[in-house]
Parts: sequence; C-alpha cells; structure tokens
Amino acid sequence: MKIFKNKYKSTKLVGIELPKHVAIIMDGNGRWAKKRKMPRSFGHRVGVEVLRSVITMSSNIGIKVLTLYAFSTENWARPEDEVGVLMNLLVEFLTKEIKELHENNINIRFMGDVEKFPKKCRDAIKDAIELTKDNTGLVVNIALNYGGRTELLRAFHNMMDDIQNGELQKADVTEDTISEYLYTKGLPDPDIIIRTSGEMRLSNFMLYQGSYAELYIPETLWPDFKEKEYEKALLEYASRKRRFGKI
Ligand code: FPP
Repeated sequence: MKIFKNKYKSTKLVGIELPKHVAIIMDGNGRWAKKRKMPRSFGHRVGVEVLRSVITMSSNIGIKVLTLYAFSTENWARPEDEVGVLMNLLVEFLTKEIKELHENNINIRFMGDVEKFPKKCRDAIKDAIELTKDNTGLVVNIALNYGGRTELLRAFHNMMDDIQNGELQKADVTEDTISEYLYTKGLPDPDIIIRTSGEMRLSNFMLYQGSYAELYIPETLWPDFKEKEYEKALLEYASRKRRFGKI
C-alpha cells in the first residue's frame, strides 16, 4: 500500500493559515482520459491515485476534514458500465486502503443516500465506518449519491417530524439547528471548495454548508491535481481575506 509512505516535505505550508475543512469536487477524469485516447474508466482509476495522495497530504499537514464529491445524484445518468466502474473503484479503495487509513487514525464518514448502492458497496461502507468510528485524526467525508437540494429536503422533513412529535420547537430553530439536520452534523463548514477542471459551478454540492467557503477553481483536471497543485490551492486560501459578509 502506498498511502502515507511519502511524507509531504514542502516547507511552504508551515506557519500559514490552513483551512480546517477542505471540500473537493473532483472533476475532469473523463476529459483527462479522452486527451490520452483512453477510456474514461482509466481517468477514474488515476483519479483514485490522486485522491489517495490528497488524503495523505491532508492528514500529514493537519487538515481536520476533507470532503470528496465521489458520486452525485446525477451520476446515475451515466452509462451503466461507467457507473459500475465507479462502484468497483469505491469498493476496491475501501477494502484495499482501509487498514492503512485506520492505522493513520483516519475517520471515514459518508454523506448521501447510499441505500441505492449495490450490497457490496454498502457492506464496504459499513465496515469502513465501523472500523474507523473512534479515530480522532483527519475526517474523510465521502459524498456518495449526494445532492445538496436532496440533503436540505431530507433535513426539513426530519425537522418537521421532530416538530410534530414535540422533540423540537419551531421557535428554537436557528441556522445552527439546520446544520444539525444535515449529513455533516458535527463537522465545521468547508472553508474552501476546490473544483478541478475549470467548471465554474457548484453542481448541487454543499449548498448550505458552503455559504462562506472560498472557491478555488483551477483549470487542472483531477488526475493532474498532484501535491504541488494542492499546495497552490492552500497557499491561495491563506492569501485570501475572509470577511463573512462584513467589511
Ligand atoms: C468527475 O470526472 C469525477 C467523477 C464523477 C467521479 C470521481 C470519482 C473518483 C475519483 C473515484 C471513485 C471514488 C472513490 C471515493 C474511490 P468526470 O467523469 O465528470 O470527468 P469529465 O467532466 O471530464 O467527463
């Protein structure tokens, strides 16, 4: 297993203000493969390698939460074989890497409706959650069958149920209460959302949590988003002045 073997050595990030929560829309695998006259699945496979290096680096430099958009509610519309490849890569990643992730104190979480996934995926997900649930290091939050609007709808339904059965009073509902009903309950909001491949859209990702996140959208396609690229994103974050709507 390769993960965590190469400790990140750059000193550029020492002493700078790092985000607590980095959220990434990993985009451009298909285009990357097409440029090389390779099948899209090859792009996804290389994409997993990059994902591994981003997890390693995040853990090594002390990021608290890393959210990764791996499969959206819209991705079901892709050809069946591509959906299958993505599911297989997920199971492969979770089964092959889980031991090392666990040894490195990583806490794996998921957000989205995974009930629609095949049993082998659900089992791998359950095992990963169970094994790493008490870990106190980097939280790796993987978005699967996730959509921001559906997440909000689910939150409002659950909240209305709780109001109806008397567990919650309407007058007590605040912005923080809404956060408590989202998949990210207990996690800080993302400080930065990175979307690779230059697409200037949020694509239904973390609509509530991302309200004040810095956006970073490099042209780089996800399979090329190596450590240097991630470092550039973090340096850019540190150079921005966050005002949260104030002056
Ligand atoms: C976007 O590229 C990428 C995805 C839809 C999937 C991302 C998934 C992985 C990197 C691997 C599987 C996940 C895990 C957690 C092991 P695209 O296909 O939309 O690229 P394009 O826009 O160039 O077509």
